[in-house]
Amino acid sequence: MSAAFDADVTQRFLVCVGPRCDAEGGGRALHATLADALARRFPEALASCRLSLQTRDCLRVCTREQIVRLEPSGEVFSNPCVEELLRAVASECGDDPAC
Ligand code: FES
Repeated sequence: MSAAFDADVTQRFLVCVGPRCDAEGGGRALHATLADALARRFPEALASCRLSLQTRDCLRVCTREQIVRLEPSGEVFSNPCVEELLRAVASECGDDPAC
């Protein structure tokens, strides 16, 4: 049995575009790449607002790499690859085609 998105819970990616994460444009580049990947893999979840992608100025966990946080779990990724982020969302929604 696969889990599905809880209708009351929105999975939200917050991509940091703060002064350290985006010092060389890496934060905004990651945001653009992730936006494309999410639109291909989870179009229905994006359309229904059960999945969203936003930017933040600083997530207060600065490193020298790009930072992404997934909510509501609070999981933080440092210099993630897009596939890693897609797997994180998929683990929250199983094989639900609407995810
Ligand atoms: S600038 Fe990205 S976490 Fe602080």
